Amino acid sequence: MQNKFLKAMKKRYACKEFDIEKKISKEDFDFILEAGRLSPSSFGFEPWQFLVITNPEKKLEVTEHSWGGRDRAVGASHFMVVITRKNDMKNDSEYLNTFMKDVQKLPEEVVELKTKHFGDFQREDFKLFESDRALADWASKQSYIALGNMLTAAAYIGINSCPIEGFNKEKTNKVLAKKFGVDIEKFDIAYMAAFGYEKRPQEFPKTRRPIEDVVKYF
Ligand SMILES: Cc1cc2nc3c(=O)[nH]c(=O)nc-3n(C[C@H](O)[C@H](O)[C@H](O)COP(=O)(O)O)c2cc1C
Repeated sequence: MQNKFLKAMKKRYACKEFDIEKKISKEDFDFILEAGRLSPSSFGFEPWQFLVITNPEKKLEVTEHSWGGRDRAVGASHFMVVITRKNDMKNDSEYLNTFMKDVQKLPEEVVELKTKHFGDFQREDFKLFESDRALADWASKQSYIALGNMLTAAAYIGINSCPIEGFNKEKTNKVLAKKFGVDIEKFDIAYMAAFGYEKRPQEFPKTRRPIEDVVKYF
């Protein structure tokens, strides 16, 4: 089991060109999505939404301002854009209040305590109320855990992928609002990710720092 997991980690790479003829089955893509959905997030508030794009025209629209994603999107079987909540992630928002009750199934008194504790954390510990940007970036950070899990899950079942930050955020948010019905008052784009099958095997060996440089024991 450990072997299979590490083998997938070693095999995964940022695929630059996908085979446009090969499509991921629904069962396999559902598996990848489940790895994202089950990912952890701070206080369990899941600030993400996954937009999955398979329509060729829509893939071009969403990558209009993406220098690092356009070519990947064209060949990818499934192209994903992950957006994250902004001010809704403030401790006392209506959204989080409903989330705690309906999704987390917390009783009223626990919701009250959690709202306060979460507020202290946001204000004092992480200084998230210093700017709208700080809060939005913190929410976006959570969604990268889902990204890592989805990339690894894909590799585990032999599917190639590429994470993408090579795009203009402001312009892409505008496209998302105009052509994908995203409420950009509430959401901000975090990243894109392409999933599919490689057109040709990876040419370059994986490079990483040695473990002694990465880890310090105390
Ligand atoms: C957050 C993030 C953003 C990235 N953005 C792009 C991108 O826009 N285009 C691209 O081709 N690769 C992108 N990459 C891939 C990285 O260049 C790649 O993961 C890194 O060089 C390590 O190589 P490996 O993933 O093949 O092991 C991105 C990776 C991450 C984690």
